[in-house]
Amino acid sequence: MGGMSGFDLVIRGGRVATASDTFDCDVGIRDGRIVALGHDLGAAGEVIDATGRLVLPGGIDSHVHFAQPSGPGVVMADDFESGTRSAAFGGNTTVLPFCLQEKGQSLREAVRLYHAKAEGRCYIDVAFHLIVADPTPQVLGQELPALIKDGYSSFKVFMTYEGLALSDREILEVMAVARETGAIVMVHAENYDAIRFLTDRLERLGQTTPRFHATSRPIPVEREATHRAISLAELVDVPVVIVHVSNREAMEEIRRAQAKGLKVHGETCPQYLMLTEADLDGLGMEGAKYVCSPPPRDPASQQACWEGLQQGVFSLFSSDHCPFRYDDPEGKLTPKGRTSFRWVPNGIPGVATRLPILFSEGVVKDRIDLNRFVALTSTNHAKTYGLYPRKGTIAIGTDADIAIWDPQRKVTITHDLLHDGSDYTPYEGLEVTGWPMLTMVRGRVVMRDGELVGTADHGSFLARSA
Ligand code: URP
Ligand code: ZN
Ligand code: ZN
Repeated sequence: MGGMSGFDLVIRGGRVATASDTFDCDVGIRDGRIVALGHDLGAAGEVIDATGRLVLPGGIDSHVHFAQPSGPGVVMADDFESGTRSAAFGGNTTVLPFCLQEKGQSLREAVRLYHAKAEGRCYIDVAFHLIVADPTPQVLGQELPALIKDGYSSFKVFMTYEGLALSDREILEVMAVARETGAIVMVHAENYDAIRFLTDRLERLGQTTPRFHATSRPIPVEREATHRAISLAELVDVPVVIVHVSNREAMEEIRRAQAKGLKVHGETCPQYLMLTEADLDGLGMEGAKYVCSPPPRDPASQQACWEGLQQGVFSLFSSDHCPFRYDDPEGKLTPKGRTSFRWVPNGIPGVATRLPILFSEGVVKDRIDLNRFVALTSTNHAKTYGLYPRKGTIAIGTDADIAIWDPQRKVTITHDLLHDGSDYTPYEGLEVTGWPMLTMVRGRVVMRDGELVGTADHGSFLARSA
């Protein structure tokens, strides 16, 4: 094998795992693609020794936010350069950030703007989801169908957040377009009116520390919206992803829908396995570091999220990386000069820690096997969002998007290992076993032994099939 000219690169001696199989073999790469799996592959321009290492499909994180406007006086901590860099350090080879339409803005114009922000500034490959915040007749009738044809085949709708929340009627209109065009709808499921009611009441009582962020959006707020989102999707028969699920009741809503045969996918995130609302309780504003929505819950909810991952209710494990700096006038500490949890920007960083956390807490601690790890962190993302089989597996003909892991390496997570634009990690001091040592995108090494070796012009934009 290898032909006259051999391979550009061979990864030798590693243990390869996909979503279905684990096997010892070498990987031959030519022109950015995997062209051979076997032994004694022959001549190669470069050989990477993977003895004692795992050779995995690169992580695909299908839920990240980069360079997203977040309201006056607040700035997201990562742009495309720092966000994709941090992703590469965390063993990822593709990310799917959001392209946010603002009220009054054309969706086309929003897409153009995000491409301009990303152009030449990505270390790894990128595909965009669209956030539909203003479903005008023009957007529903022309822009959305045209964009889906152009490869933007998934979009997110919000049931909460000022300026983003859609009415049930609007959600149905968006879902109907997805149904017509073969797209998939991601739903942020929290009840907007209930959150506003509870938040106003807490403020009247002077209960405004970050801790009360969780009190303002308790489990019924999420469960009700999850049920409603699923019901709306059932009405128009469209596939949906319920994103960032935090607790058992919402998980059980998804399980019930799946048992009925509805096309409902579930996603959870590291924060719902590792954090609880007690983390919001830090001294002063420290708790703001953990403010995200839905909020982290309690140990029983963490256990429910593990069960969702183990039993397949959740097919997607994403970071929901949505980074803001902490000690920064444009960050979480003194949002707009105020201190109520109401003004703390929602979201936490996590694109670099997603994979080590699930590997260590899941695979090493025997909660999930290695193949489920690959499915949850790579393969299922590619399948759900129209990138498979080009992305998400190790097979002949696929892009050579690979992460090489040392499964035994013990690392204490510190912010300086993550190379993002934030000034903290919610997981500072967490000890993990297993760490990505090398990340390769289409055959080119981007990160090796904790050093960035790629360039920000390598990442390419991926159009996706519906
Ligand atoms: O708090 C969160 N999750 N912020 C990110 C935006 C979103 O809703 O996914
Ligand atoms: Zn959301
Ligand atoms: Zn998000």
